[in-house]
Amino acid sequence: MKFFVDTADVPAIAELNDLGMVDGVTTNPSLIKKSGRDILEVTKEICDLVAGPVSAEVIATEADAMIAEGRKLADIAENIAVKLPLTWDGLKACKVLSDEGKMVNVTLCFSANQALLAAKAGATFISPFIGRLDDINLDGMELIEDIRTIYDNYAFETEILAASIRSVNHVLDSARIGADVITAPPEVIKKLASHPLTDKGLATFLEDAKAAGIKIV
Ligand code: G3P
Repeated sequence: MKFFVDTADVPAIAELNDLGMVDGVTTNPSLIKKSGRDILEVTKEICDLVAGPVSAEVIATEADAMIAEGRKLADIAENIAVKLPLTWDGLKACKVLSDEGKMVNVTLCFSANQALLAAKAGATFISPFIGRLDDINLDGMELIEDIRTIYDNYAFETEILAASIRSVNHVLDSARIGADVITAPPEVIKKLASHPLTDKGLATFLEDAKAAGIKIV
């Protein structure tokens, strides 16, 4: 399973990247706003730092304008994945940009039928939003399962990029189902390392080491 980091915070990406935890990065206009940076500048910096795909999202809503923005974003670096919303115009832009050989991440996916259309339009990635479905009392993980089944039934190559991940359980469930990629905020990725029994066990080992006068270096 690939780990993408869902942020435009360069130092946070760099910290995880140094540990080999970053297979790619996803951004969106809200994350760019949060960074307080210029989209082209910060996206270039992220692309220079990370070898894998870096998703940068268009803001146009009409297909021709999305295509123009997508081409401009793709010019930033070879590892750009143009992020397009799952609208009819977004699908049109997806087909054109993917036919040009650009990576495309189709975002704001909330149904398996939407995911089916994105795959047929040549999307490299489909981004189903787990957390936002859970927020309205629907089941985000069920959507990941449905898309996995459908893509496997027909051998679609579009990768399932489980997005809007809010908890470590979302990561675990996505891995169980076989999502190809998860994208999560840096805090959630770091939380994967935590376990209270690890902390408790380490405290005991350290106490015993002190009592025994153990020294290593
Ligand atoms: O990758 C999409 C993600 O950024 C959305 O997450 O938490 O805003 O629903 P969230």
